[in-house]
Amino acid sequence: MEADPGAGGYRAANIRLAPSILTADLGRLADEIRAAETAGVDWVHLDVMDGRFVPNISIGPLIVSAVRKVTNLPLDVHLMIVEPEKYVAAFAEAGANSITVHAEASVHLHRLIYQIRDLGTRAGVAINPATPLSAVEEIINDINVLLVMSVNPGFGGQSFIPSALSKIRRARSLVDRSKSSADLEVDGGINAENIAEAARAGADVFVAGSSVYNKTRSVNESVALLRGALLAGEASS
Ligand code: DX5
Ligand code: ZN
Repeated sequence: MEADPGAGGYRAANIRLAPSILTADLGRLADEIRAAETAGVDWVHLDVMDGRFVPNISIGPLIVSAVRKVTNLPLDVHLMIVEPEKYVAAFAEAGANSITVHAEASVHLHRLIYQIRDLGTRAGVAINPATPLSAVEEIINDINVLLVMSVNPGFGGQSFIPSALSKIRRARSLVDRSKSSADLEVDGGINAENIAEAARAGADVFVAGSSVYNKTRSVNESVALLRGALLAGEASS
């Protein structure tokens, strides 16, 4: 197990926000994407669920290609599906810039990572809260994105699992000491109350579903709130 390096500093300008459209108004999807783009987000995160790997069904390649038509932002496709090797080509074809698969869903993860890279797409690997970091140790130099889940995948609007913070710190340590160029992304329950702490723990890409697309604030206000929390946290870190 990696040593926990403790909390560190971060530069707010280096943090990327990746809103998940899972809680967006899908009837107005193009407007919802444009609103996020205008608010200055960095990636668009697309949650693909199959009702097997997770107990919910969401979107497929058709929606990814529809989103591709309305934005030039990188499309970050998160596959929460079994047998991901059967579908990665369809998502690359639909316009994904990065495709993240779950370590738990693939028997031949190394092969799958290179299958994704050979499609000309960045390759990411996600691990669930109960999956140890050791599941990605051997492939840390082969991936472009390490995604630490801070909720059990399947639904938007869940609460951040506090133990994810220590896992993010250990993941940062693993990425750095392996000299991996992988982005360290966190997904689940991220909001203005916890984003700075998770950035201090070492994450540099944040998925934000219900804290960007919600009924309380506009997308613009929600993104500004997250950026403001990152700036305030930077000053105090
Ligand atoms: C969880 C998905 C997340 C989720 C994020 O299954 O992978 O991307 O939609 O939504 P919030 O930020 O609301 O937890
Ligand atoms: Zn996700």
